[in-house]
Amino acid sequence: MPKQFTRAQFQESATFIARHTASRPKVAFVLGSGFGDFVDAISEPDVISYHDIPHFPVSTVKGHHGCLVIGKLEGQEVMVMQGRVHYYEGFSLEEVTFPVRVMHAFGIETLILSNAAGGLNPAFQPGDLMLIEDQINLLGMIGNNPLMGANDSELGPRFPDMSSLYDRQLRQLALAVAPEADVPLHRGVYVGLSGPAFETPAEVRFLRLIGGDATGMSTTNEALVARHAGMRVLGFSGISNAAIDVIDSDRQTSHEEVLAAGRLLAPRLVAILRAMLKRWPETV
Ligand code: HPA
Repeated sequence: MPKQFTRAQFQESATFIARHTASRPKVAFVLGSGFGDFVDAISEPDVISYHDIPHFPVSTVKGHHGCLVIGKLEGQEVMVMQGRVHYYEGFSLEEVTFPVRVMHAFGIETLILSNAAGGLNPAFQPGDLMLIEDQINLLGMIGNNPLMGANDSELGPRFPDMSSLYDRQLRQLALAVAPEADVPLHRGVYVGLSGPAFETPAEVRFLRLIGGDATGMSTTNEALVARHAGMRVLGFSGISNAAIDVIDSDRQTSHEEVLAAGRLLAPRLVAILRAMLKRWPETV
């Protein structure tokens, strides 16, 4: 079992962040690959580099900035993680989900996750946005779940229920505001894999068979830990590419393609989140 962090360490990082901003947001966003421009929409930002936060993991991946941005969106205080670390970089799942525990210790109650994902559902086009209704955490199902190891019951229950992992009220709000924001929003199941290799065509067909609509290399572990901690979770997948389901295709999947789609998708995600925040107080 990899080394587990302690509550004192989560608190130490949360206290560090609290010393570097006067804001006390209750909502946080995690930005996926290529979504970094999202932070341009944040006003009065306090920016903290992950490098400076005790114990905080720092990504090695292009397109992941490594800054915590705390400021305002639609007049409401928000926290934004501009970049995250991934399991395929060699981080343990405890490290991958460390920021979620820190955000909870800081006082974040709602976590909105985003990612770049391969489209499995043939109806999805690159550039589309999908609301995550549910997830398949393939990595966890075969024995690598971030909640494995000794359970600190102060953090959450040993056997947490995951029947509504992605918050029903928040999903309804996202679907309700999408037309106002003029952003078409698909809904579907996100399959979390380890990566870093993209899937083979046989794997793509398998993921479709088990009910996946989009797939990627993040999000599922953060969602599990956030829910374990009692946070409300919401998730969006930006479809960056159609997953290739036949061998010897003329097409290939590349990280550059993923980042380019992310840049296109960031304004759409901002539009939905702005519209959600406008209606937030009356709904949440
Ligand atoms: N597969 C897995 N992860 C991804 C993909 C994909 O096709 N696109 C972006 N992230």
